[in-house]
Amino acid sequence: MSRAREGGVYFTHTMRLHALRLWQFRNYVRAELTPAPRMNILLGANAQGKTNLLEAIYYLSALRPLRPVREVDLVGWGATEMRLTAQYETDGLTDAIQIRLPLQGKRTVMHNEQPVARQSALVGKLSIVCFTAQDLSLVRGEPADRRRFLDAEISLLSHRYLYSLAHYKRALEQRNTLLRRHLEGVATLENLPEWNAQLAKYGARLFHARRQFLERLHALAESTHRALTENAETLALRYLPGLPVREPLPDKEEDWHDALLSALHQSAGEELRRGATLYGPHRDDFLIQVQGYEARLFASQGQQRTCALSLRLSEVALVESIRQEPPIVLLDDVFSDLDPARRRHLTAFLTPRTQTFITCTDLSAFDAATLQDAALFEVLSGTVMPRA
Ligand SMILES: Nc1ncnc2c1ncn2[C@@H]1O[C@H](COP(=O)(O)OP(=O)(O)OP(=O)(O)O)[C@@H](O)[C@H]1O
Ligand SMILES: [Mg+2]
Repeated sequence: MSRAREGGVYFTHTMRLHALRLWQFRNYVRAELTPAPRMNILLGANAQGKTNLLEAIYYLSALRPLRPVREVDLVGWGATEMRLTAQYETDGLTDAIQIRLPLQGKRTVMHNEQPVARQSALVGKLSIVCFTAQDLSLVRGEPADRRRFLDAEISLLSHRYLYSLAHYKRALEQRNTLLRRHLEGVATLENLPEWNAQLAKYGARLFHARRQFLERLHALAESTHRALTENAETLALRYLPGLPVREPLPDKEEDWHDALLSALHQSAGEELRRGATLYGPHRDDFLIQVQGYEARLFASQGQQRTCALSLRLSEVALVESIRQEPPIVLLDDVFSDLDPARRRHLTAFLTPRTQTFITCTDLSAFDAATLQDAALFEVLSGTVMPRA
């Protein structure tokens, strides 16, 4: 049992996968895995099924594929349906989940042998944090990549945020349509004040929540980054709101509201000429700095990967603060670009707290102590076997 610490209280539970079975899932015809409580290493050459195995765990949690494919693409080629089952421990109790996805017809989900009517309610019950090479786009990618990350993270913490985000997107779309149609000469601006009010109301909530969240994320990611670099590097995050506001940024939701409304008024002429909304949280970004310099432009490959890991692994503490138990961690291809010291710090960071699944193509990345404690599984053309 883990003894994770949060705010001086000790929690004794850890989210843990006990058993996983796959039928006709991707390149697995039939396979089962009995993972160990801490580090699980999935070892195999390219194209053997390592990522597919992580995806099976991911799918049981998120009910959607890990990679951008249609759901039916998860069904093994030539098969007519796939099935996944898992037993996992949460809150000290064992739960079972079973998913059946036919090529034609509806997906069925069973939770503790009961059919689940509202499947979306099951999302995240098996809680996981998943790092893939795709996460590098947090550092190297576009502002939209970072906004997506913020939205996903804050939505974990707040239903109000998720709700406001949906309303904001709708208001933005309607407002943009109105501006565009006005530019084309087919609409009047009669409804513009109404959409301004909506945009400012929901936009202010997003600004405020993102600002607060980034402060929290900064603290978490900064301490993770220190752990991964043995205090050699500092990581800093700075919120760049999509508004002409000066530092210090507003503290209150009302102030964000007023700032956005006034930006909309000031940019009205420009907006009418361009037919688009120029200010608001849809233009947000945040700056990631390593040793005081912008990571996107100045950090090395290994530093960029470490930044992405620090950001993603902050989710472990966030989930832990909500669920009172650390989630399962999935790490796909995490070692490339990392030197031996950083690899060691990463495994040391995870081992005492969480059940981890990590893919690799050879074992040279691990130090002896990690290998000693880890369970090793060999993945070979759609089979997975524990290595004695
Ligand atoms: N629906 C499917 N049915 C059967 N095979 C599939 C399906 N989808 C993907 N595959 C195959 O599964 C194989 C293993 O893919 P996977 O991504 O798990 O490899 P990997 O072990 O992670 O390799 P790498 O080290 O290159 O990342 C691939 O060759 C892929 O073509
Ligand atoms: Mg892979």
